[in-house]
Amino acid sequence: MGGILAVLSPSKRNVVEHVIRGLKLLEYRGFSGSGVALLQGNKIAVYKDAQRIDVVAEKYNLRNLSSWMALGHTRYATHGKPHADNTQPHTDCSGGIAVAEDGAIAGYELLRDSLIVEGHKVVSRCDAELVAHLIERELWNVKNFKEAFKRVVAKLEGFFSIAAIDSSCRCIAAYTRGPPLYIGVSQDFIAVSSGKAAMLGLADKYFKLGEGEVAIVGEDGVKVEALDGTGIEKTFSPLDVDPRYADKDGYPHHMLREIYEVPEALMRTLYSVQERYLEFAARLVAEAERVFMVGNGTSLHAAYIGSYYLTELAGVTPIVVSAAEFPLYHVSNVGPGTVVIAISQSGETGDVITSVFESKLRGAAVLTITNYIGSRLSNLSNLYLPIGAGPELAVPATKTFTSTLLVLYLLALRTALYKKRISADEYRASIEDVKKLSRELREKLQSIEESAEVAAKALATCRSGYVVSRGLTYPLALEGALKLKEAAYIHAEGVEAGEFRHGPQTILEKGIFSIFIMPVEKQALQATYALLSLSIEKEATTVAIGFEHDQKLEEMSEVIKVLVPYATRHLAPIALAIPLQFIAYKLGVILQRPIDSPRYLSKTVH
Ligand code: F6R
Repeated sequence: MGGILAVLSPSKRNVVEHVIRGLKLLEYRGFSGSGVALLQGNKIAVYKDAQRIDVVAEKYNLRNLSSWMALGHTRYATHGKPHADNTQPHTDCSGGIAVAEDGAIAGYELLRDSLIVEGHKVVSRCDAELVAHLIERELWNVKNFKEAFKRVVAKLEGFFSIAAIDSSCRCIAAYTRGPPLYIGVSQDFIAVSSGKAAMLGLADKYFKLGEGEVAIVGEDGVKVEALDGTGIEKTFSPLDVDPRYADKDGYPHHMLREIYEVPEALMRTLYSVQERYLEFAARLVAEAERVFMVGNGTSLHAAYIGSYYLTELAGVTPIVVSAAEFPLYHVSNVGPGTVVIAISQSGETGDVITSVFESKLRGAAVLTITNYIGSRLSNLSNLYLPIGAGPELAVPATKTFTSTLLVLYLLALRTALYKKRISADEYRASIEDVKKLSRELREKLQSIEESAEVAAKALATCRSGYVVSRGLTYPLALEGALKLKEAAYIHAEGVEAGEFRHGPQTILEKGIFSIFIMPVEKQALQATYALLSLSIEKEATTVAIGFEHDQKLEEMSEVIKVLVPYATRHLAPIALAIPLQFIAYKLGVILQRPIDSPRYLSKTVH
């Protein structure tokens, strides 16, 4: 996973400096390693290390090298820890083909095993390397790089984009099965890039490669075709990136970019979690005598929702505890037979590390869920599942929250399958629901952002308020309140809807807001409509977050609504989190907060 930038200059200009600069701008996609593959004479030379591109450029004196065709990559580790060998680009056994990939290829372990059995020298634990060997294998049959590339990508499954260069055809082949890939051109250069901003200075117009399309970039220009060879006409648009925000791919804040990445991150997560390890994790959880879930902040809120999943689907009832509290009272009940599920986006949070350390001392098995392979937590644990959402640079967590929920959902489903509480068909259908949700959310993000802005304008007049929900979405109320505090410095309290009538409603009045996340449990809905009416009656600013086509909600004209496409009950917390994230972001913009780095906070609390 990470950022790809491949450049070819038909007029034979040197592209090396452009690739280094572009990779720097792609670091928001990953920085656990970087490298370039350069065409030098008739050969491809690769320069890479588990470092950021500045360091790699310095180490190999790259700026003194010259090449008119290059393939660069900046890595985010999902398969294989950060290490020089796992860094991209990768080559085949002959060294004539170099490949860079973004995303994750399904069935990695089996594919790797089969290539090794055939005699390929696989040197890394990175899925991109397999593609280089697969093209090499296909070349034995078709003797044509373009055809071999097409045959390989057609057979792969997963959520990935790939660019490859070949020393004999002296061309770039590119393909996507989901992650963005842009093709930009100018008089002297043709670029293939994972982000638009990385093409600043290289291209003045661009188009986006469609899913399933292949682009071949050669000295004679760029051609796009379908896998069956049918030519595809593309329309160029001017490259419209604001250079002030080039490091955020044109977005004014990382937080906004990261919310827009939520649907894509779900797909990345789906394919980053490898079957073999998910199966181990499910067995561990199913056979445990006792399961604890620990985390802090947003990760703790994800754990609460995860505990609903495990309880309902897998019949396992974990004890969810803040990692700050866990060592105080709970470790005395930890021993062999205990499984501790430790959740931390950064994998470096001090309280989580302490909890894990104390648990391991007492003989517990630790299953970590983290966005950073190679973090202290992943190294300390017996087994880890990657969140795989890509780096999150804004302090307020957004896409890692929704992707953590997905990992927890997959774990619960897999545990249920292991315990034969659901069938293989039901399992597969649930995975299809995730893909469907990702597609629908992607289409609706802009309209959700627009309604969130309307809600934020109304909330900006309030001094404090509540975020309220019930059932599976109750922990979302806690998460929504946290986001409002972080991104907008607005005091908010997350409340369980049943409890709302036991005190909190007393202070409803003008100047107070209440944001209701509509519950997904039918039996809780009527009571929530009643609370919405009460909030309106008391002149509190009232917002509802729910699904489209909620007739009753639509009739409540005074309620400000932010609606999302329908999601199945278990996926609802993922869909309904997005309006909360947008509202917090928009409120932060209106109130002119330093959204990406709120005061007194850092991304990792050691
Ligand atoms: C939420 C936030 C914090 C973190 C918490 C745990 O937006 O930034 O509350 O969620 O510090 O961090 P990780 O998940 O890295 O352990």
